[in-house]
Amino acid sequence: MYKGMDVISALQFSRSDVEKLITIAEELRRRVENGEKLELAKGRILFTAFFEPSTRTRLSFQFAMAKLGGNVIDLGPEEVTSRAKGESPEDTLRTVDSYDPDIIVVRHREPGFAAKAAEICRAPVVNAGDGYNEHPTQALLDVYTIWRSLGRIDGVTIGVMGDLKYGRTISSLSYILSNFRDVTIYFISPQALRPREEVLKILDQRRTRYELLEKPDDAMEKLNILYVTRLQKERMNPEEYERLKGSYIITYEYLSRFKKIPMIMHPLPRVWELTTDVDVLPQAIYFEQAKNGLYMRMALIKIILGV
Ligand code: NCD
Repeated sequence: MYKGMDVISALQFSRSDVEKLITIAEELRRRVENGEKLELAKGRILFTAFFEPSTRTRLSFQFAMAKLGGNVIDLGPEEVTSRAKGESPEDTLRTVDSYDPDIIVVRHREPGFAAKAAEICRAPVVNAGDGYNEHPTQALLDVYTIWRSLGRIDGVTIGVMGDLKYGRTISSLSYILSNFRDVTIYFISPQALRPREEVLKILDQRRTRYELLEKPDDAMEKLNILYVTRLQKERMNPEEYERLKGSYIITYEYLSRFKKIPMIMHPLPRVWELTTDVDVLPQAIYFEQAKNGLYMRMALIKIILGV
């Protein structure tokens, strides 16, 4: 990791990079919680360009920059920009890049878009999701959450469940986890939504243990973490969505059948796959997970700015 770097893929991060980011995130958390007003990013500008909807990722980047004492400029919704007149995202980015931001955070439905943006822009580009491909900063906050709740990442047994084919958080999380020792990943999904070949190939190369399951039942009591994801409705055709809708669902009643309930994570937003009655369980850590995103993104911004 170095000043000025682009963040395009989770594969860029080594084990020691992840450990370093966690240390910085914890340190920044302590300072913020102590009421310190940070000025590390004073005079710097973070530009957020989201060409796909987002709540947590966009806002936590913006809050992260604000809490570091920096400035935030947002592209704004489609109807108030020239996108509505048919301008390409490439032209928009090229223009804003010429205004000299210090970091550009992009999200776009096209796989590979962040890499393309990094070629166009002088400013460092952070991938906040490129279609079904990757979401590296989500994976960083996910492993930060695992570390905070278990005290370690080595030796973790995790079930990742849901839309593993079109879900970009799954590929990035798998890549980051593959840096750690003795990790076991159970991929739990209907056959039609199994992880993409390119993801499994990397796990094979890195000798990370995994298994493909259709139901969570048999694995449940072995899991430290169950990571649930929604069906990526916007990335599949309507018939496929209707056919697969409701094909997996985690409820309080379902979890209560097991002697041991794992920690429950979810990148959010949830739709029907994780019912709200689960929220009362002490194992439900998805809102903490979202909060951890703030500190992890502060840490990442700090590294990129070199402050
Ligand atoms: C995820 C995403 O955008 O990929 N959301 C997020 O960033 N927390 C998950 C999703 O949309 O299902």
